[in-house]
Amino acid sequence: MTSAAFPAFAYQGDTLHCEGVSLVSLAEAVGTPTYVYSRGAIEAAYRAYDAALAGIDHLICYSVKANSSLGILDVLARLGAGADIVSGGELHRWIAAGGDPAKVVFSGVGKTEAEMRDALAAGIGAFNVESTEEIEVLDQVARAAGVRARVALRVNPDVDAQTHPYISTGLTQNKFGIAAAAARDAFRRAADLPGLEVRGIDCHIGSQLTKTSPFSDAIARLCELILTLAGEGIVLSDLDIGGGLGIDYGKDGDPPPPSHGEYGAAVKQALAALGDHPIRLLVEPGRSIVGPAGVLLTRVLYNKDNEVKHFTIVDAAMNDLMRPSFYGSHHPMRPVRATSAAPRTTDVVGPICETGDFLARDRALPPLARGELLAIGAAGAYGFTMSSNYNTRPRAAEVLVAGERWTVIRERETLEHLLRGERTAG
Ligand code: LLP
Repeated sequence: MTSAAFPAFAYQGDTLHCEGVSLVSLAEAVGTPTYVYSRGAIEAAYRAYDAALAGIDHLICYSVKANSSLGILDVLARLGAGADIVSGGELHRWIAAGGDPAKVVFSGVGKTEAEMRDALAAGIGAFNVESTEEIEVLDQVARAAGVRARVALRVNPDVDAQTHPYISTGLTQNKFGIAAAAARDAFRRAADLPGLEVRGIDCHIGSQLTKTSPFSDAIARLCELILTLAGEGIVLSDLDIGGGLGIDYGKDGDPPPPSHGEYGAAVKQALAALGDHPIRLLVEPGRSIVGPAGVLLTRVLYNKDNEVKHFTIVDAAMNDLMRPSFYGSHHPMRPVRATSAAPRTTDVVGPICETGDFLARDRALPPLARGELLAIGAAGAYGFTMSSNYNTRPRAAEVLVAGERWTVIRERETLEHLLRGERTAG
């Protein structure tokens, strides 16, 4: 789980630490399950993008869906990041965390008119418009508000991101973006509408990308369109290439994600097709900014065996970290107390009443007795944000560590929180 680039989670003595804080002490102070994030790792990941794109005019719009907790957004806002949002709720969070609305891009296939109005009132940077119908609606909403909406049109470049089918978004069979063949007409129409100011072109081909070639292919298609449109007098100043790099989930045999350097070089090479057409590049990384920076800390409740399997029953479950049961994802795991005991094969499962409630299957782990702690790695992205209250389980606490200091950035939910707003019909 420790990466050479940033030792955010490493053993000090026999105890796993996040930066300078012992995960044993944290679990005692805050309880489990708890998400623990390294501030240093988040900052380093952001700076790695900034460095990789140095030399090109760029804006890093952190994809809020990956982890939208105020304490995390605050770290990114302070670094000067923009935000990629997909709902009015995410905009509300970004502004509440002190983020700059002018650096916001609003993506998503189903924006409501109310969300459009609120985003216009907040003065967001641009709407990434995803359909021809949305173009018309946004024009009307903007005109009614007496403003012009800055827009980029999201084009579906029909590029295979070579990732899990649920998180692949740039193919014709996916619901996202405007089909490449219809894009020129859509740009012409948008350019004619008085409520819209057409600024850019956007795409997002998928998540957990482990190669740079899909990025290069997508950029090549968009550059072609930019040049064609410029020939028709529609001059775009922004090119948004969507989400960022994949991350290492610690599974043997999986291809390692490309380095930021490799990514930066591929992007720059693909952009060269634009010649002297000036462009600002926008990127919307989420997973690679916060994913490796977080672990889910959980405590063993029980061990049990049957004829064929050993189960390690922990106090975190699929409602806390949905990725293993939803996508079959692999997350690396480390016992918080280092041990030299020989590993055995176990299923790490939670207390939820579903066979699908597992965090790992057939995993080699040293024996962990009742009460021992386990850290589930690469959990900082799409961990807490996808968590739910299934089985009426309060959602986990979240802690942000900086050096030897730690802050509870989200308190564990209470049973009062869970019943809020409910009533009986009598
Ligand atoms: N921009 C747009 C328009 C997106 O839809 C996404 C992710 C991103 C940026 C950020 O992509 P990233 O840099 O994180 O790859 N829940 C899934 C991931 C869903 C991603 C959805 N869109 C998971 O746990 O793997």
